[in-house]
Formats: sequence, structure tokens, C-alpha cells
Amino acid sequence: MSTRPSDSARASHTAVVGLQWGDEGKGKLVDLLAPDHDLTVRYNGGANAGHTVVVGDERYALHLIPSGILVPDCTCVVGNGVVVDPWKLLEEIEGLRGRGVEVSENLRISTRAHVVMPYHKLLDNALEEAISGQRGGAIGTTRRGIGPAYADKVQRSTAIRVGDLRHRDRLERRLETILSLRTRQLRSLGVEVGDELSLPRLLEESLAAGDALAPHMADTTWLLHDAIDAGKSILFEGANACLLDVDHGTYPFVTSSNCSTLGIPAGTGVPLGHVDRVLGIMKAYSTRVGGGPFPSELHDEIGDRIRERGREYGTTTGRPRRCGWLDLVAAKYTAMVCGVTGIACTLFDVLGGLEEVSLCVGYRLPDGSVTDRFLPDAEDLMDVEPVYETMSGWHDPVDPPTDRASLPDAARRYLDRIESFVGVPIEIVSIGPERSEVLVAAS
Ligand code: GDP
Ligand code: IMO
Ligand code: MG
Repeated sequence: MSTRPSDSARASHTAVVGLQWGDEGKGKLVDLLAPDHDLTVRYNGGANAGHTVVVGDERYALHLIPSGILVPDCTCVVGNGVVVDPWKLLEEIEGLRGRGVEVSENLRISTRAHVVMPYHKLLDNALEEAISGQRGGAIGTTRRGIGPAYADKVQRSTAIRVGDLRHRDRLERRLETILSLRTRQLRSLGVEVGDELSLPRLLEESLAAGDALAPHMADTTWLLHDAIDAGKSILFEGANACLLDVDHGTYPFVTSSNCSTLGIPAGTGVPLGHVDRVLGIMKAYSTRVGGGPFPSELHDEIGDRIRERGREYGTTTGRPRRCGWLDLVAAKYTAMVCGVTGIACTLFDVLGGLEEVSLCVGYRLPDGSVTDRFLPDAEDLMDVEPVYETMSGWHDPVDPPTDRASLPDAARRYLDRIESFVGVPIEIVSIGPERSEVLVAAS
């Protein structure tokens, strides 16, 4: 039986979570914090995520592999809450190896994680097309099969887990039933089903992927608890973001997992009480890719300027991101839901050079009243008008700032207002994509 180290020997564990609609710079922050941790673990999502890490002239886009992979001696864990497209994962592993990044026993994948199959992607596509006429349009998914894969997980009888990829008999039995159901469903949606969904072909391809991934497969629940018992420190990496959380986001314009920190226990097997520090990642403005309400969206040249300066094009799909002012009503809500202890305000450099900047501090409802509480209903959110506080902007500093105190006065006032509204300190200000481009609060 293992013995727990005394409290004083207990290592500290951190969570990194997106406070908006994704793409807040979580990859950069995980890469920055990973050297202070022994393990990095993804607890949700799948290849819908696109986490960018910039190291010198090299730019990495990570989808399924945790962003700690570029840090030597950091073990990366794909937790049970993730949905794994095995072929995408193998492609990602090979891509990293081809660039000289070590991916061996430093990558561990939960045998409990669920598998994204080709029929999930076909279904995702077909369902998006089928609902495109609804109010607000389609969800605008990444079409990576995420929703259908999580639906099968909850359905149980039609699910396949990573561990199943190593058992021919079991896999064949399951696939036989699933393929007959899914083929009929896809045909009823007008999708032509080809040889890629034939049982012999998918079975052999799945088993081959299972063989290739076998050296990485593990019971990651025990792995994480053994690491905790050994006094090791864990960094939990959230994919997607709190406003895309299936329970707490702008439903139904969300993804299909618990991307808030509330997904950590279920997605890793580590109780929430173990997380000491929750760093909420928040852009200095807002973006969203795909459909759904976005009260502070800008449809003018300021929105275009933010998109171009911030290179706001999807890491996974290349789609232009919708841009708008920072929504503090939403941020206060997500910081509360995620139990955020500190904020990293990213892409702060992008706002430089604007004459004025605005912060959304309330929503005006159709009856004329104003609330500072985020609304639970996406259709209601589509009908609110943002209430703004507008402040002076600031010029880009001639010399790169070295700390928060060396930022222009107006920039500091902007950060102060965020802190006072959300009620959480800003611990890190990110002023560029590279690892070194951060201003860290004096401790
Ligand atoms: P993630 O999904 O939350 O990891 O974020 P993405 O990687 O999808 O998108 C964030 C983008 O902003 C990436 O291109 C990053 O390289 C870039 N980035 C991160 N922090 C900063 C910053 O402080 N300033 C600028 N200009 N770019 C940043
Ligand atoms: P990272 O981790 C931005 C959005 C999609 C779509 C909705 C549902 O890079 O921040 P899905 O394919 O998950 O069923 O799509 O969620 N979405 C993201 N948007 N960043 C992400 O991840 C996202 N993951 C999902 O655009 O609106
Ligand atoms: Mg992203």
C-alpha cells in the first residue's frame, strides 16, 4: 500500500482553463508553466482543440497531445475524459517526432478514453448540415466528430474505448453492431457511405492504430494518483473553454464536454480538492469561432483590426474568428464557475494603438433593465445589448515593457478595471506569442 507524503511534502497542482470561447492562449501558458510541474494532463475535448506554442522560430499546433510535450521531463497524459481520434493522434505524434520532439514513454493515453471513429466525423458533418436553417444557424462545429463520439460514450452500447483497440474479438463484435446502425443512420441523412465504413477495413485499421498506440496506453487514473503520492506536481490542461462547457456554456452553441475546471475530476480521476491554483486564461478582448451568441461582437473596422493584429484565424480549422470587446459579465461568471484564483490576460499587445477601448460591464435586456449576471439561455443572450464602459486607449510602447508598472497608464487602468470587476488578480499579462513575452505580477 502506498503512503501519502505529509502535507508539507505535498506538491502543488495547477489548472489552466479558458474563460471565454476558446483560443485564449492556453497552449502558451501550459508551455510556460509545465517546467514547474512533473506532469501535464488533458481532461476534456479532442482534436477540436488547437493549442499553439511558439518556441523561437518554431510554431507548434497541438490538438490531442498536451502542450507540456515540448518541455523535457514533463510526462504528458491524455486523460479518460478526452475523446481520441487515433489516426489524428498518430499523425500528431509523427509530426512532432519529425521535428525532433521526443514522444515516447513521456506520452500516456488513458485506456478509458473514448475513440472518435470515421462515422463520428461523417455524422458531425451531416448533423451540422441538417440544422443549418435553425435560429442562430448550425453550431459551427469543427467537424472533428466530437459531439457524436461523446454521445456514444453516454449511450454506452455504441461506444469504443482506447483500450478496446487492442482486443480483436471485442472490437469486431462491437463494430459489427455499430456499423450496421450508423450506416443506416448516415444513409437516412443523405450521406453516401463508402468502403471506409466496411467492417473488415475499419476493423483492421483500428487494430493497426491500437498496435501503434499500445506503448502509450495506461491506466492513467492510477498513474496520476501514484504521481501525487510520490510528491509530483500536476498541471491540468483544459481544452476549449468555459463558455463552451456543455453544462455551463452558451448551450447548445457549445462543445460536448465539461471544459470548465468542473471537468477535471471526471476527466482524470483526480478529485477537485487536489487543485491548488486555477489560472483562468482570458484574452484582452473576446473571440468566438462558430455559431452562437456573442453580445460584445464587433462588426466594424475595429473588429477587423483585432482579427488581423491578433492573427485571429482558427488553429484547427483556419476559420476567421469573430472578434469583439472584452465581456466582463461573461468573465466574472466563468471565473466563478471555474474557481479561478488568478488570471492570465493574453494578447494584450493586440489592443495597443486604439484611440479608445471598451469593456462590456452589463447586458441590457429587451425590457430595458440591465444585469451584470450572465444568462443561462443562448436565445436570450442573442437578444441582449452590451452596456460598455469606454476608456482611453494607449500607444504601443517604444520599448517592450518589462513589468506591469512599465505599461502605459491607460493600459494599467484597463487591467485594474478587469480585476475590480471580476474580483480576481491578474497574475500574468501576455504581450506576444513567445514564451518569454509575459509580464508576471510581483509576488
Ligand atoms: P489556445 O487554443 O487557447 O491554446 O489558443 P490558440 O493557440 O488557438 O490561439 C492563441 C493564438 O494567440 C496563438 O496563435 C498564439 O500563438 C497567440 N498568442 C498567445 N499569446 C499571445 C499574446 O500575448 N500576444 C499575441 N500577439 N499572440 C499571442
Ligand atoms: P481550443 O482548445 C475555439 C467550438 C467550435 C464550435 C463549438 C462546437 O483551441 O480553445 P465541436 O467541434 O467541439 O463540436 O464544436 O465549439 N470549439 C472551439 N472554439 N477553440 C476551441 O478549442 C474549440 N473547441 C470547440 O468552433 O463553435
Ligand atoms: Mg485554440
